[in-house]
Amino acid sequence: MTSEPGLVVSADGSHTLRCPISGETYHNHNGAARESDWVFITTPDLRARLASSQVFKILEIGFGTGLNARLIGAVARKHTVELIYDSFEPHPISNALFLQLNHEQWAHDTAHKSAFSQLLRPSNQTEVRIKNTKYTLLQTAFTKNTHLINHYDHIVMDAFSPANAPSLWEEHTLQNLYNHLIFGGTLSTYCVAGEIRRRLSKVGFQVEKHPGPPGKREILLARKPSKT
Ligand SMILES: C[S@@+](CC[C@H](N)C(=O)[O-])C[C@H]1O[C@@H](n2cnc3c(N)ncnc32)[C@H](O)[C@@H]1O
Repeated sequence: MTSEPGLVVSADGSHTLRCPISGETYHNHNGAARESDWVFITTPDLRARLASSQVFKILEIGFGTGLNARLIGAVARKHTVELIYDSFEPHPISNALFLQLNHEQWAHDTAHKSAFSQLLRPSNQTEVRIKNTKYTLLQTAFTKNTHLINHYDHIVMDAFSPANAPSLWEEHTLQNLYNHLIFGGTLSTYCVAGEIRRRLSKVGFQVEKHPGPPGKREILLARKPSKT
């Protein structure tokens, strides 16, 4: 990117960012923290799933501000689960910008501030552990990894919209995401466009529309069917 994203205060008071090139915000301006919880924690039922798992593996497309990672880590911290959180991000934000974000009051912790500063240091791949969560930031565009087929329990599909990041919504990318999930695994996203739903179905997902957070009528949950 040529310049830094701009800081935006969303309707619930939590910060989000605006991409300087497309103008797209990283979250719904009606409430960044509320949207993150609704789309990526409540709808895929992560509270119950993290509570009942020994190990739970998440793949995120688009680390951005780290808000999803932070809120999901906060849920994991209440349980004994070992959470593996791998996130792709080709344009990590600067540490100076990260430190301006006010997300700790939604994640109810301060540990992430210094840990995510470490995670965001320039490198191809960085790792930090916060209690029972191991975060890995892959500072590159999403690429398939043949060692991680049938690997993840859940995918946080938080790429920019199909209009601004078309390659991440192409059928072959969605097929790669499907292949990375375990049977019975899920993918959640804010995007409900008809063409994207058709592509998800075509690669094998069972696609469900669910009510959205304030300001967004519907969101999407896609399931990789269980092995019969
Ligand atoms: C909607 S924002 C993600 C918001 C983020 N999940 C958060 O909690 O702040 C989309 C992100 O996808 C990143 N991105 C762009 N191209 C990508 C790619 N090819 N693979 C993975 N992420 C990408 C962008 O740089 C941006 O940070």
